[in-house]
Amino acid sequence: MAIEVRREDRVAVLTINRPDALNALSSALLEELRSELTAIAQDDSVGCLIITGAGEKAFIAGADIAEMATKTPLEARAYAELGQECANLLETMRAPSIAAVNGYALGGGSEIALACDIRLCSENAVFGQPEVDLGIMPGWGATQRLARTTSIGFAKELIFTGRRVKADEALARGIAQHVLPLEELMPKALEMAHAISAKSPVAIAYAKEATNRALAGDLATNYMVEADLFSILFSTEDAKEGLRAFTEKRAPEFKGR
Ligand code: CAA
Repeated sequence: MAIEVRREDRVAVLTINRPDALNALSSALLEELRSELTAIAQDDSVGCLIITGAGEKAFIAGADIAEMATKTPLEARAYAELGQECANLLETMRAPSIAAVNGYALGGGSEIALACDIRLCSENAVFGQPEVDLGIMPGWGATQRLARTTSIGFAKELIFTGRRVKADEALARGIAQHVLPLEELMPKALEMAHAISAKSPVAIAYAKEATNRALAGDLATNYMVEADLFSILFSTEDAKEGLRAFTEKRAPEFKGR
């Protein structure tokens, strides 16, 4: 198995483990990723997911270029849809996901990172969409998610030029939320993941669902959905407990219902 999943309480840590190819995602690896993400999405005991790459050089160096060289257009379409499915699972699963970007996040690697809710990166991280250098274009979501995460002009610049972006620029452009020395990346990701996992899972899931709509649909509907989800939370024991605990000056005990 080239994908490892370990648990630390309510935090799941998923590592892409193919360092000899800089964690490039072959079709077989992508299928394994889909199956692990599907299992995590269905597991209510997961409060937050961290996704990272094995080794100290790469998060994910993209789709597998050697494999792509042999693909027919129809096989390429299936590869794009499989990558999009993995990215969509990350975006829509109830539990938040944190990309711990520990090096190259190029092409499909950048796209998997962009599908996560939050991106932390090490000082040696490099983001980019170099597909045009291969005579192709992004296929796992960057044409939409990079534009929505940064700006349409910046997304077009990166997608049209293939220019690589280092950690500080990624931070300035909102691609990464924090830049850390490599040895501090996982401790920070785990600290954040445990903090998120300690909240009411239903409040987090609804907050994620409402926030995901920020860049989709019309504003009036999105405000209505936000108010609907906000009000539904008042029927949960967690909301009653959280609100009561504040006034009683004690830490809340959330039960996920
Ligand atoms: N696919 C397959 N193998 C890859 C790979 C990839 N995306 N990226 C790196 N590798 C392999 C290399 O072939 C090499 O293997 P060998 O040792 O067997 O020769 C090994 O990983 C180490 O790579 P390098 O020797 O190239 O390492 P480097 O430090 O000199 O360069 C790099 C690092 C700049 C990341 C360079 O490897 C590189 O440019 N990789 C390709 C990045 C890329 O173009 N990604 C986009 C792919 S297209 C895509 O993802 C489409 C999409 O939208 C889904």
